[in-house]
Amino acid sequence: METSFLVIFTFLLLQRLGASSESMMTNSSSVTCIERERKSLLIFKERLTDRHRRLSTWTGVECCEWVGVHCDKRSGHVIRLDLRNPAFFNTDKREWYYDNQLRGEVSPSLLNLKHLRYLDLSMNDFSGHIPKFLGSFKHLEYLNLSCSGFSGVVPHHLGNLSRLQYLDLNTQYRIPDGVTSCSSMSIDDLQWVPSLSSLKLLGLSGLYNPMNLTDELDWFSEVNMLPSLLTLNLAGCNINFPSITSVNFTSLNSLDLSYNFINSTIPVWLSNLTDLTHLELSGNEFHGQIPDFLGTLSALTLVDLAGNSFDTLVPGLFWNLSSLTFLDLSWNGIVADLPSLIGSMSEFVAKSLVYLSLAGNEFSGCIPNTIGDFKKLENLLLRRNTLSGHVPPSLGGLTCLKELDLSYNSLEGNLSEVHFIKLKNLTLLDLSSTSLALNVSSRWNPPFQLREFKASSCNIGPQFPSWLQTQTNLETLYLSNSSIRDTLPDWFENIATHIADLDLSYNQIGGELPAFLSNSQTDLYTLKMNSNKFEGPLISLPSNVQLLDLSDNLLSGAVPKHLCSILGIWLLDLSHNNFSGRLPRCLWNLDLYVIDLTNNSITGFLPSSLGFLRNLISLHLSNNRFTGDLPPSLQNLTSLVTMDLGNNFFTGSIPFWIGKSLPNLRILNLQSNQFTGKIPRQLCRLSNLQLLNLAHNSITGTIPPCFGNLSGMKENDSNNEYNFVDQYIENILVNMKGNQLLFTKTIRFLTSLDLSNNSIVGEIPDSLMNLVSLKNLNLSRNLLKGNIPIKIGNLQQVESLDLSMNMLSGRIPQSLATLHSISYLNLSFNKLFGPIPVGNQLQTLDDPSIYEGNNGLCGPPLSRCKPSNSSYSNDGKDEGLFSYVSMGPGFVVGFMGLLASLHFIRSWRLAYFGFFENVYGWLTLSILLNLARLRRKKFF
Ligand SMILES: *[C@@H]1O[C@H](CO)[C@@H](O)[C@H](O)[C@H]1NC(C)=O
Ligand SMILES: *[C@@H]1O[C@H](CO)[C@@H](O)[C@H](O)[C@H]1NC(C)=O
Ligand SMILES: *[C@@H]1O[C@H](CO)[C@@H](O)[C@H](O)[C@H]1NC(C)=O
Ligand SMILES: *[C@@H]1O[C@H](CO)[C@@H](O)[C@H](O)[C@H]1NC(C)=O
Ligand SMILES: *[C@@H]1O[C@H](CO)[C@@H](O)[C@H](O)[C@H]1NC(C)=O
Ligand SMILES: *[C@@H]1O[C@H](CO)[C@@H](O)[C@H](O)[C@H]1NC(C)=O
Repeated sequence: METSFLVIFTFLLLQRLGASSESMMTNSSSVTCIERERKSLLIFKERLTDRHRRLSTWTGVECCEWVGVHCDKRSGHVIRLDLRNPAFFNTDKREWYYDNQLRGEVSPSLLNLKHLRYLDLSMNDFSGHIPKFLGSFKHLEYLNLSCSGFSGVVPHHLGNLSRLQYLDLNTQYRIPDGVTSCSSMSIDDLQWVPSLSSLKLLGLSGLYNPMNLTDELDWFSEVNMLPSLLTLNLAGCNINFPSITSVNFTSLNSLDLSYNFINSTIPVWLSNLTDLTHLELSGNEFHGQIPDFLGTLSALTLVDLAGNSFDTLVPGLFWNLSSLTFLDLSWNGIVADLPSLIGSMSEFVAKSLVYLSLAGNEFSGCIPNTIGDFKKLENLLLRRNTLSGHVPPSLGGLTCLKELDLSYNSLEGNLSEVHFIKLKNLTLLDLSSTSLALNVSSRWNPPFQLREFKASSCNIGPQFPSWLQTQTNLETLYLSNSSIRDTLPDWFENIATHIADLDLSYNQIGGELPAFLSNSQTDLYTLKMNSNKFEGPLISLPSNVQLLDLSDNLLSGAVPKHLCSILGIWLLDLSHNNFSGRLPRCLWNLDLYVIDLTNNSITGFLPSSLGFLRNLISLHLSNNRFTGDLPPSLQNLTSLVTMDLGNNFFTGSIPFWIGKSLPNLRILNLQSNQFTGKIPRQLCRLSNLQLLNLAHNSITGTIPPCFGNLSGMKENDSNNEYNFVDQYIENILVNMKGNQLLFTKTIRFLTSLDLSNNSIVGEIPDSLMNLVSLKNLNLSRNLLKGNIPIKIGNLQQVESLDLSMNMLSGRIPQSLATLHSISYLNLSFNKLFGPIPVGNQLQTLDDPSIYEGNNGLCGPPLSRCKPSNSSYSNDGKDEGLFSYVSMGPGFVVGFMGLLASLHFIRSWRLAYFGFFENVYGWLTLSILLNLARLRRKKFF
């Protein structure tokens, strides 16, 4: 007992002694931090803005204990500086959150940290170029500057870091559907790379070479000098084709060449990379068959070939890769049979596969029952294929399943409770655009808690599905066009609390808008309830909503003032309701991109504060009761693409400044107002204009000959499609072919000039015949004189031509007969004479009223002409009515053009495969908006 006490005592004594000797030394030699290095760090800190006080521990003498600073235990030198900012990406909003960024310049004082081995400055917002002096850290083994805010060219001085094993300059990151980039650095030369002979990781993603060097930089020959390389990331580098005769980096584990638009077959040298575990080749133009040799790279665990142009797949190709966990073949053109693909998989693959995406291909057949053998599967993504038949119940046994996407297939039959019986972890279920019906009991309590449920264009109604009330984690709910005829149930309020994205459009949901929308707690930022039967006033609105579409309902009353408190709103669509009264003035203080109030009964002047909407792209006020002149402040709306003010009571002359100040305008509709005066010549400067409608006004004067310069009506391929807005279907009514036609998805192919029903005098300028891409030309009901221009035949794309009710005289030019797209023609009530030209499409237009009221015209379809042997012959090619369907290919080409330009226009930083979907739908560009918003919020 005594001895043990003694032992303990001694121990304590020793401890005390030790402690006191330590505290004595604090004042002298026990501080490990070296004073000179400490001062350097402080200078470095001083130069930075550190709003979140990440460097608040950087005080006192012991710099080795400061956050992010590590010293060598023996020498006391700072050997490690880790200032990486823990950033994250919000997938819903597709935004980076950089809350804790350090900002400012990197001070050269760091140079005093001569023993630095590890430097991580990533995910910050440093300014200026990468400091050249970083090349002086002789001992550096690890350098991470990814997404660190630097710009400019990567300095060659980094080539001096001969001990470097890890060099991460990546500026491109993977997000669930694609990639996003975070800074703008470039690389002009890679000759410094081979001297980094110990390099194991090289990350250069998103570092493009300046455009003038595009073809000169040979990325691979330099990188090929690095035999110890394990990880190579050249995604989004605009690299040219990697032609290698022999590979040096044969130990490579991970290779990422995504988003380089490499147009070739997969290079054979990949087959020598036998240690490869990760292979990412998405977003290129690789084509042909997916090569056999991939099946021999037995170490592969991740294969990402998404977004290429592969067309065939040898069944069984991957199925010897017994460690394969991730396989993404989405968004190719693969034509294959799903049952035989699944059937050819080995047991090993079935056991290992966690992620399988075949979305966006042409996989056909049914989903085989054996899918139930893939016990580890967490993501099964089969969106947009041509699958048919019933969904096998074995799916319900995939206990790990988190995401199940069967959308856009021809699947049919019922999904019942058994299909979901063990899917405890399911968070995403997408059944959109299938013919599947969800046939579950009204008391079903599903095993899962979904975050996303999408079942648009699917058999869900007529009742609102009651099992949804168990789903209290829902963030996304799409039930558009799902045949619901109901009112919103009371419990909807409970599940709506987390919903950020709600689409109930195109149903027959009635009643007043739910009051819970006003709950300031909601996260709702996209709300689409359009095309339903909601009625009554707009009493409450979700306070965080960014996109609000309530169009095509039965809502009434005034547009309420409280709308103005929704500061984040950028899209407001209240069109096709019964709103009346004046608009609240404060509306114009919001930062709107789209405002659509078409077809209501709104009154009042346009206030000059409208000019505050500097980001406005689309303005639709048509079919209301607006009065007064257009305020000059409209000139401030320089982003405007669509200005649709038709069918109101606007007065005054057509402002000349439209032509000067709104250069992006593509659609200008002023029809059916009370505009007077001449057409301002300045309109000719609108080089993007593709639709001009001034019809039904009191316009006088002549048609400016410079209209012939409107290049938007001359060029077939207007290359500025990205001006339109994501999530909003741009639309315009056009008087064409004797009808009012609503253009939506095909709007970008529309070119139309309508000056009808005015008092325009003079002749039709010959220069109008330069507008060779016009589809619609309507000059009817004016006071036009002179001849129809001889070159009318230039308007080869014209489908609707109306020159009626003028005082045109002379003969109809023969070239009219060469208009092979024309399906509507009206020349009635003029003073034309002579024979009607024959041939081609004109022959199908045999209604005599086309020509009536011209006393001198003769020939079919009117009476015979007096002897005059016209030898005009029909070449027999009747091409039939022009059909919009035939525009498909052009659309696709245009889209690929967009992708290509995305690649080069580096100020555009977001690309993801969702875009591929738009080939099928309308060209929507989240890019534009996301970017604008990112810039506004200064995330980058
Ligand atoms: C490429 O362009 C940049 C800037 O436009 C210029 O500084 C550089 O000299 C050019 N390089 C070559 C090789 O033309
Ligand atoms: C392979 O690397 C060595 C040096 O590491 C270099 O000398 C040789 O040229 C490289 N081979 C090729 C084909 O680039
Ligand atoms: C791949 O390896 C084979 C056999 O080892 C060799 O003959 C061939 O040259 C290599 N190809 C390349 C491109 O390195
Ligand atoms: C890819 O290359 C082929 C032939 O080299 C060419 O015909 C094709 O148009 C290219 N595709 C793209 C998208 O550039
Ligand atoms: C379900 O998810 C939880 C939490 O992510 C996980 O721990 C569990 O293993 C998962 N269950 C299955 C069957 O995958
Ligand atoms: C329009 O822009 C001018 C010049 O930038 C500015 O002075 C004026 O206040 C703006 N008006 C409105 C209504 O935004």
